[in-house]
Amino acid sequence: MAEFTLPKNSVLTKGREFPAPDDATHTRRFEVYRWDPEAGENPRVDVFHLDMDDCGPMVLDAIIKIKNEIDSGLTFRRSCREGVCGSCAMNINGRNSLACTKAIEGYTGTIKIFPLPHMQVVKDLVPDMTHFYAQYASIKPWLEAQTPAPADSERLQSHADRAKLDGLYDCVLCACCSTSCPSYWWNGDRYLGPAVLLQAYRWLVDSRDENTGERLDDLEDPFKLYRCHTIMNCTDTCPKDLNPAKAIAEIKKLLLQRQQG
Ligand code: SF4
Ligand code: SF4
Ligand code: FES
Repeated sequence: MAEFTLPKNSVLTKGREFPAPDDATHTRRFEVYRWDPEAGENPRVDVFHLDMDDCGPMVLDAIIKIKNEIDSGLTFRRSCREGVCGSCAMNINGRNSLACTKAIEGYTGTIKIFPLPHMQVVKDLVPDMTHFYAQYASIKPWLEAQTPAPADSERLQSHADRAKLDGLYDCVLCACCSTSCPSYWWNGDRYLGPAVLLQAYRWLVDSRDENTGERLDDLEDPFKLYRCHTIMNCTDTCPKDLNPAKAIAEIKKLLLQRQQG
């Protein structure tokens, strides 16, 4: 994982407060986590009062409005604005989610926006995903087959085999699940976490993949897989309504079946 130097006294402090325009009649209050590693200051929470009659409907719209109109230094990731790139994952009122899929009207009172929990922060709402992506690469998220592909067609699957990938291929690797998992918080250096394990299962059940045995060998490890204690935060949190806890249970079942011959 990349090294970052946090301020010695890394206490969250009160930040600046930005009022809404005088003529605004319909306002909402947003608290936003801020930390700039180059400033050498403690993290703080800035407060923004926004005019909702001049703001898009989603939490990401509010963040973009803050950046465009109030504080251009606010740093966050986003791309698609429709829940498919996974880059706007953050913690909104205590729950990990994709800011572009969450309607402001779905919250009451102040909306509190923090980076994904238990990750190193690069700046403001941007977590360092280096370790997460390295773990993803470690499960070899690509097709492995020794048999050459047919000369005149792609590697085909039956409809039934293709259906086994539903609920797995749809993962957008946002890391909302992994960063809500207590086991990943405490053992994230060695435990792969729900997102990466769901992806591992995606390749285990792909009928075209021929390295199932090696994939299972790699996962048969007290830390990589068996730190999951079925707490279910992951499935509860997933903004795409996927079920990583079930995928983890299925991997454990495959390993058990293999042990039992
Ligand atoms: S079910 Fe497993 S992966 Fe999901 S939150 Fe619980 S411990 Fe973490
Ligand atoms: S399983 Fe859901 S929460 Fe986890 S990375 Fe994939 S889309 Fe995000
Ligand atoms: S911006 Fe792509 S998922 Fe939110």
